[in-house]
Amino acid sequence: MDGNGRWATRRGLPRVAGHHEGVKAARSVVRAASGLGLRYLTLYAFSTENWSRPVDEVSMLMSLLERSVNAELPELMARNARLRVLGRPHGLPAGVRRGIDHVVHETRHNTGLTVLMAFNYGARDELIDAFRSLARQVAAGELRPEDISEKKISESLYTADLPDPDLLIRTSGEMRISNFLLWQIAYTELWVTPTLWPDFGAVDLYRAVAEFQGRTRRFGKV
Ligand code: FPP
Repeated sequence: MDGNGRWATRRGLPRVAGHHEGVKAARSVVRAASGLGLRYLTLYAFSTENWSRPVDEVSMLMSLLERSVNAELPELMARNARLRVLGRPHGLPAGVRRGIDHVVHETRHNTGLTVLMAFNYGARDELIDAFRSLARQVAAGELRPEDISEKKISESLYTADLPDPDLLIRTSGEMRISNFLLWQIAYTELWVTPTLWPDFGAVDLYRAVAEFQGRTRRFGKV
């Protein structure tokens, strides 16, 4: 969800104004994804690198994300949508963690769209956590090194029980992955739009999905 800061700066507004608009965009995209019948929507809300932003922006983002997620609980319930979080929970302020855990808990039995919020997420950290867990099993004699397979590694990630993403949308024209789901996106289709995140809405999602539907996926085969 890139481009909140630039959206605000271009209008002579403080960066926080861009984040507030970004929340509105996230709400419309969740609605549109649920309406389309998508099974999963992952939103990259806060990366492990985002901690190095100015302290004020970080604390504002933390409370904004927590408040926004809590405010969406009634709509998530009404849409039979479930919230899950990807990332390292420790390191987040306890209050923020509790607030988000509450929404995850309340929506856990919903069977419609699963909204995955990548929060305090970094793909390299995720891989480190997975490899540590596998190494522990090897050290304990529960796993042989030759039994470490793609499946084993996938099952050790935060996304253990989830399918790999079909489509990755990056806003604001940046042509990079920025430490997002590095293992899982091996065969994901990429779609980059110059639109800044606060201007991204349902129509943009439809456009991306429609273009995705026209692509031929070979998964390395012919
Ligand atoms: C990117 O803009 C956005 C973020 C760092 C994260 C915050 C995202 C939101 C507030 C959207 C709402 C999300 C949810 C799940 C409620 P940027 O600051 O990197 O913009 P810039 O690249 O233009 O500086």
